[in-house]
Amino acid sequence: MLDLGCGNGGKLSELVRDGATDSVGVDISGNFLSAQLPGLELIQGDLSELDSVPGLAGRTFERILFLQSFGYAKDPVRTLQVARGMLADDGFILLTRTQPIRYALERAAKNGTSLGEEYFSTAQFSYVSGWNDEIALTKRPYTISDLINVFSAAGLWIESATEPQLSEDARRRYPHKQAWMNKNLGILIFKLRPHPGP
Ligand SMILES: C[S@@+](CC[C@H](N)C(=O)[O-])C[C@H]1O[C@@H](n2cnc3c(N)ncnc32)[C@H](O)[C@@H]1O
Repeated sequence: MLDLGCGNGGKLSELVRDGATDSVGVDISGNFLSAQLPGLELIQGDLSELDSVPGLAGRTFERILFLQSFGYAKDPVRTLQVARGMLADDGFILLTRTQPIRYALERAAKNGTSLGEEYFSTAQFSYVSGWNDEIALTKRPYTISDLINVFSAAGLWIESATEPQLSEDARRRYPHKQAWMNKNLGILIFKLRPHPGP
């Protein structure tokens, strides 16, 4: 597995514990878990410059993950094209992104505008991060069509798309999590495979 924008490597470590082999995590922060497992490498690098990340040259992977990290790609089509070239036979890319309607709703409430105006706006927007109120994040807006068109332009097709929700049991046990999901909608998960050909 190759986990691009892997954070501290915690999720990939769990996958390695569950049996993934020859796995690599890449994150620009370089803040990795100190205890590393056999079969797992964590490398400081930029997902926008995948072809020059040390340790990735000539390697292929059965799974390539972008878990809430694809939005940081400077040139999203190019990043996916390079990742596509690193897929082993029968490999696929798993990519998650925040449901964009969530951001549009938040901006509509904040700016006193409508959902449509915000969803289809192309202006960048900033907001204070939830984890550090001294850090503001700037985002490029995107629609669902934008995402699909990026995948197509990179020579990928969507084998499946899911919008995971809590199970009935989890809803009952964690009503605050369900309240969060009701407000924020959650994430989109895409399973992407390469079109045959160059
Ligand atoms: C929202 S976090 C997601 C982390 C992890 N994938 C997860 O699901 O818990 C986004 C991660 O992308 C990393 N990141 C941001 N820009 C990056 C870049 N240009 N190249 C590699 N990683 C990047 C950040 O350091 C951060 O760890």
